[in-house]
Amino acid sequence: MKHPPLLQAKNLKYSFNETGTSTHVLNDVSIELFPGEITSIVGPSGCGKSTLLYLLGLLDRPDSGEISLNEKDVLKCDDKKRTILRNHKLGFVFQFHFLIKELSVLDNVALPMRKAGKSKTASYEKARDVLGKLGLLDKSNRFPHKLSGGEQQRVAIARAIINSPSLILADEPTGNLDTENSKKVHSVLSKLAIEENISVLIVTHNLELAQSCDRVIKMRDGRIIE
Ligand SMILES: Nc1ncnc2c1ncn2[C@@H]1O[C@H](COP(=O)(O)OP(=O)(O)OP(=O)(O)O)[C@@H](O)[C@H]1O
Ligand SMILES: [Mg+2]
Repeated sequence: MKHPPLLQAKNLKYSFNETGTSTHVLNDVSIELFPGEITSIVGPSGCGKSTLLYLLGLLDRPDSGEISLNEKDVLKCDDKKRTILRNHKLGFVFQFHFLIKELSVLDNVALPMRKAGKSKTASYEKARDVLGKLGLLDKSNRFPHKLSGGEQQRVAIARAIINSPSLILADEPTGNLDTENSKKVHSVLSKLAIEENISVLIVTHNLELAQSCDRVIKMRDGRIIE
């Protein structure tokens, strides 16, 4: 039997308002994400993929609809509670890694755990542990610009998982990588889904990678079409 969904979104609507006109970007989008599953979202540029990830990542609120995480209604939570949920339950990986260039790989990865108030010893121990999982332990003391694009993106994944999230939201994490590095990053995400029972949602333009996921969601004009 399938587990209950980790995240459930129902009938999400979202529009941007600019100079008096409102543009509908998401129309009745419903989605369920399960632990241990990697799901991809594909669709033309501008169809609303990133907007959907923002809403599911509790970075913005829909105009209407429902979002629950572990069967808890997260839209009822105030901003403070949402920030706590985001820091503890969610990990984000973007197209450009957004690593801090003045910090070593190890410091970058430990940072979210330090920010969550954990001790230096515990944070650095866990940072080494997740870097090891991603095959990057030998790069711990390097600075990000001394790594390949694929390695930088794997450091970004290490940073996203240090607080043991239940869900990873990845917005075109392989968008600026070559084929080989894209495959590596993708296989790291698939492995994390299976081994750590994390739910992974990945936006990608790479159909081959999308199709290797457990599920593919196709979007067009703010709707899920398949
Ligand atoms: N801040 C904003 N103000 C107004 N419209 C916006 C804003 N951000 C995005 N949009 C519009 O919302 C729609 C969806 O944008 P979104 O970024 O979600 O698309 P996407 O599917 O992620 O595209 P891409 O594949 O190019 O990243 C687009 O038509 C875009 O122009
Ligand atoms: Mg986008």
